[in-house]
Amino acid sequence: MTGNRTLTMLKPDAIENGHTGGILDMMIKGGFKIIALKYLHLTNAQASKFYEVHKERPFYGELVSFMTSGPIIAAILEKDNAVEDFRKLIGATNPANADAGTIRKTFAESIERNAVHGSDSDENAAIEGNFFFSQLERF
Ligand code: RTP
Ligand code: MG
Repeated sequence: MTGNRTLTMLKPDAIENGHTGGILDMMIKGGFKIIALKYLHLTNAQASKFYEVHKERPFYGELVSFMTSGPIIAAILEKDNAVEDFRKLIGATNPANADAGTIRKTFAESIERNAVHGSDSDENAAIEGNFFFSQLERF
């Protein structure tokens, strides 16, 4: 059975570049309902923990540094088949390879400064949702 929730972040480049409204609009028009939302600036410890799965990857240090370079927006989104459909909406990790009409093709700068995060499995969607939000913060 596929789950109906995913976790997204609008990354520091998207906020800095003034794309908050445009990106949230594409998510909502794409059929995703906002269940929880917050604006925050991750600490080094928090970003390191969130991206722990990538700690052996060569880009881990730069990724943590980028993700703590400015505020982000985190949100839980709901839709049937949320994880897979959301990854289609955001497009490939590298915006140069992303399809036209995707969020990354429209708003991302580069493979690292790629505007948005989307969970890669139902299991990680639940873990990542719990990382940012209590039950009282979900509507
Ligand atoms: P995300 O987790 O942010 O939704 O992105 P993703 O699944 O498409 O890509 P993933 O492999 O999980 O990588 C996480 C983030 O690390 C940065 N990255 N930099 N310099 C590089 O080669 C490189 N590769 C990945 C990106 O910000 C990517 O979204
Ligand atoms: Mg990923």
